[in-house]
Amino acid sequence: MRDKEDGRVDGSRRTWLIATTVTGGIGGVATVIPFVSSFAPSERARAAGAPVQVDISNLKSGEMMTVAWRGKPVWILNRTDRMLADVQKADNEVADPHSNNPFSMPMPEYAKNEFRSRPERKHILVAVAVCTHLGCTPTPRFQEGAQPNLPDDWPGGFLCPCHGSTYDLAGRVFKNKPAPQNLDIPPFMFVGDTLVIGKDEKGEA
Ligand code: FES
Repeated sequence: MRDKEDGRVDGSRRTWLIATTVTGGIGGVATVIPFVSSFAPSERARAAGAPVQVDISNLKSGEMMTVAWRGKPVWILNRTDRMLADVQKADNEVADPHSNNPFSMPMPEYAKNEFRSRPERKHILVAVAVCTHLGCTPTPRFQEGAQPNLPDDWPGGFLCPCHGSTYDLAGRVFKNKPAPQNLDIPPFMFVGDTLVIGKDEKGEA
């Protein structure tokens, strides 16, 4: 499976946002969708860490998009039921199944569950796509099973291209990898079909 990632600069507003759509499971890469959000805050606000609002109404089951928050890529993955089952299958293979050792930000209380998501929208994973080893961006490897650089019993997840750390479909690092911790889960909340990253009921991060 080949992954694509694309950036787009809106010259007039000087905002940017990356959108990547990847089909889940066996299907491979779908269309890259340029995503220009009418909610996008100004560059100055973004640099200051303003929350990012993303319309996810068109994010289909099995698809993922990537947006920028505080200069970091953040994945929004709409997991299928099979992907959630893959998360459960990986429980015994990941180093910190309950995310007791967060990386660079506290784990939100509402994401302290087996899927690391809000229970009312458990299919939606929101994770900071920064490898906890040395900061590379892992790439999606949603296809299950044997493939280059992955074990034969691969349950689906993410592979860091720099030193081979692997993460499951909840962003939990597998055992015995260079990366010591799970991917960060930022504060987030839903307002209808709008996902707000960097803010929740307790306020802004
Ligand atoms: S930066 Fe990801 S494994 Fe080293």
